[in-house]
Amino acid sequence: MTDLSTEIPAALVARIQQLAGESAPASKLNAAQEADLITRIKAELIKQNAVMIVHFYVDAALQKLADDTGGRVSDSLDMAAFGAAHPAQTLVVCGVRFMGETAKILSPEKRVIMPTLKAECSLDLSCPATEFAAFCDANPDRTVVVYANTSAAVKARADWVVTSSNALQIVGHLKALGEKIIWAPDRHLGRYIQEKTGADMLLWQGDCVVHNEFAAEALVELKRQHPEAAIIVHPESPKAVVELADVVGSTSQLIRAAVRLPNETLIVATDNGIFYKMQQAVPHKTLIEAPTSGGSTQCISCAHCPWMAMNGLENVLAALEHPAEHEIHVPETIRVNAVRSLDRMLAFSRDQGLITPRS
Ligand code: 13P
Ligand code: SF4
Repeated sequence: MTDLSTEIPAALVARIQQLAGESAPASKLNAAQEADLITRIKAELIKQNAVMIVHFYVDAALQKLADDTGGRVSDSLDMAAFGAAHPAQTLVVCGVRFMGETAKILSPEKRVIMPTLKAECSLDLSCPATEFAAFCDANPDRTVVVYANTSAAVKARADWVVTSSNALQIVGHLKALGEKIIWAPDRHLGRYIQEKTGADMLLWQGDCVVHNEFAAEALVELKRQHPEAAIIVHPESPKAVVELADVVGSTSQLIRAAVRLPNETLIVATDNGIFYKMQQAVPHKTLIEAPTSGGSTQCISCAHCPWMAMNGLENVLAALEHPAEHEIHVPETIRVNAVRSLDRMLAFSRDQGLITPRS
């Protein structure tokens, strides 16, 4: 037994909320400003042999630009695989810092730049590397599985990295081998995987400021108003919300479910940045945001990640014009360990057909 707790100290919770509140969203632009920035970004991408890799939660203008320039809009597993396989010399990663770090860990020979180096993730912040290492040391009989939403140093301490696209399969595989698990940092995703696989898991108690706010009671009421709708939910959401879901899955799995389900109306419990790609995939269907607790004056995120919202056309151009100020660095001593757990995840995912060999 250990006397170390996986509870997040109140001071750290307060700090995370403060950082979320302080994050400044990208500025609103008029059509002429957007057009000018897009022209300049396209020219820089060609000049610098660079490619954009954009998460589904990022502003639609960046998603469209990535599509138009041969880049990728995707979930965190596919972003990692795409960046590692792409021949470009510079990867412009639009998302939050752990996504840029993952790209750099997998491709140390490439320059990895981000529109802002201040785009945090509450899960990453909730799991400081030193405290996490002490927790692992106190439980040496357990295999260490961490979510991709963690720092490079936490990945370096892990045996496996997972994302919400492959966590069920990887933990199921470890359980079949008889391994007991340390899981960090998302308590909701961890509990979901634990219930699905029956694995013996010690759970770190972090959560996502966006998904933690989805509200089950209000969702029941919304479903009462739209009985024909299917409810689709990202597994970072609380148990009571997941239990109401017709489909639970990662961002790309939710988009595929929107296509597959016969329902013409979908209630979507994940960051509303996903609506751009989801609506493209099902142009004739009605998409409704799942309700969050509190109104816009009370909730921290109101279904949009405050750090994803920092990415905009202006800072994409700034990153390309001043790459040194926007570059991701991962110390080699950390990288050589972190790449082991990431490579293990990618190899397993390829074997299982969860990513295609060239993606
Ligand atoms: P996905 O891997 O499903 O894209 O999720 C990443 C994330 O940060 C969700 O909040
Ligand atoms: Fe992290 Fe949540 Fe933002 Fe995803 S949505 S990057 S888990 S804070």
